[in-house]
Amino acid sequence: MGVTYFKRYRMEIDLTRPLFEPPVLPAGYEVVGWHESLLEAHAAVKFQSFCLEIDANVFPCLGERDGCSRLMREITRRDGFLADATWLLVWRSEDRRSAEYCGTIQGVLDSREFGAIQNLGITPRHRGLGLGSVLVHRALDGFRQSGLRRAYLEVTAQNTGAIRLYQRLGFRKARTVYKAADVAYA
Ligand SMILES: CC(C)(COP(=O)(O)OP(=O)(O)OC[C@H]1O[C@@H](n2cnc3c(N)ncnc32)[C@H](O)[C@@H]1OP(=O)(O)O)[C@@H](O)C(=O)NCCC(=O)NCCS
Repeated sequence: MGVTYFKRYRMEIDLTRPLFEPPVLPAGYEVVGWHESLLEAHAAVKFQSFCLEIDANVFPCLGERDGCSRLMREITRRDGFLADATWLLVWRSEDRRSAEYCGTIQGVLDSREFGAIQNLGITPRHRGLGLGSVLVHRALDGFRQSGLRRAYLEVTAQNTGAIRLYQRLGFRKARTVYKAADVAYA
């Protein structure tokens, strides 16, 4: 094992300006609001979304099923947890016989009155359909409904697809931060 420093960007968005137009939700998908009973569904989607991604090195808990449950419990028990900025996506087949959870986002209020997006994840086979953009829009709208004027998220610099997406949605890089993580060398 050795310590690696991952470069990350804090990206911010001004909530007092009009938000981007959200993509239309494709047929079969539904956005579901927060309820305690959905904690494990959020955790399972988080794990499936992150386990093979760079962020599972930066935050090892994202690469473990139990770690994702712990993280969800920790986020939802924080004083600043915002149910209105926390959403789950479900997909149902046309005949309604099969269904799966496929997207998650969580929002919290930080000490400086910023809305903070925690983890946005879409499971691999549902990517590229605009679902990530839909969830970001729901979270930002939830922040606005709670009276917040600014929001931010942090993204690993190597996650270029996600950075491009956030820039397209109106987020701007505000600061560079470094996150130390223990990484196993091959
Ligand atoms: C980033 C992520 C949430 C995007 O979700 P999505 O539903 O595919 O997003 P949308 O369809 O609204 O937008 C697609 C954009 O995301 C980008 N993207 C990033 N990673 C992608 C991936 N693995 N597959 C498909 N698109 C991806 C695409 O490049 C595309 O941008 P482009 O049109 O400029 O090429 C999703 O890829 C994901 O869950 N990745 C793994 C977890 C992660 O890194 N989350 C972000 C943490 S800050």
